[in-house]
Amino acid sequence: MPTLETPRLILSPFSFDDAPAVQRLAGDFAIADTTATIPHPYPDGAAESWIASSDSLWLVKQTLALAIRSKENRALLGAISLFDILPEHRAELSYWIGKPFWGKGYASEAGHAILAFGFTELKLKRIHAEYLARNPASGRVMEKIGMKQEGILRQHAIKWGKLEDVICSGVLRKEWADKANNRDG
Ligand SMILES: CC(C)(COP(=O)(O)OP(=O)(O)OC[C@H]1O[C@@H](n2cnc3c(N)ncnc32)[C@H](O)[C@@H]1OP(=O)(O)O)[C@@H](O)C(=O)NCCC(=O)NCCS
Repeated sequence: MPTLETPRLILSPFSFDDAPAVQRLAGDFAIADTTATIPHPYPDGAAESWIASSDSLWLVKQTLALAIRSKENRALLGAISLFDILPEHRAELSYWIGKPFWGKGYASEAGHAILAFGFTELKLKRIHAEYLARNPASGRVMEKIGMKQEGILRQHAIKWGKLEDVICSGVLRKEWADKANNRDG
């Protein structure tokens, strides 16, 4: 599994030593509230199972799940994934940041790095993502990393027993490369 570096972050594989921090951070209701599959309350053992499954899903190149860590002290800040990878075609992006670390630009910084890896190393043509319409912070992260809103799936999700609208967002390799060239040039 790769390790990626950004100015403030290291994105690296999870190990079982991360399990207590994953359970503490992802166990906050605020994380489960706007994600599709994170349970609440977060059961004992779930972090270990998820870490083990992310290892085996990378072996078959289906999912790349990386820990987002502070470069300064290596503390776990969150997680970011490319999942449902179709080799050299497309993948879906997801992420969460522990609540104490929100609003510092970490999701966007990690998002830029994993998009770059997806387009250059995995040779994807498209990366897409979905977020609940009531989660504009995630929409803003997607906008900041160059994704465009592609549509609204009305009442597509059921969260806590209620129907919710879902917004789809995506970026094509060419759009990402044009932006990268503009930044570099
Ligand atoms: C969504 C989430 C990942 C954002 O992480 P983060 O590290 O705080 O994100 P960033 O700091 O990189 O960017 C957040 C942006 O959203 C903006 N924002 C925050 N709350 C907002 C709101 N209510 N309305 C509009 N924009 C908002 C911030 O101002 C910032 O934009 P800016 O840099 O232009 O000011 C984090 O809140 C989280 O983990 N939420 C729970 C899990 C989740 O929803 N994951 C995504 C599932 S699709």
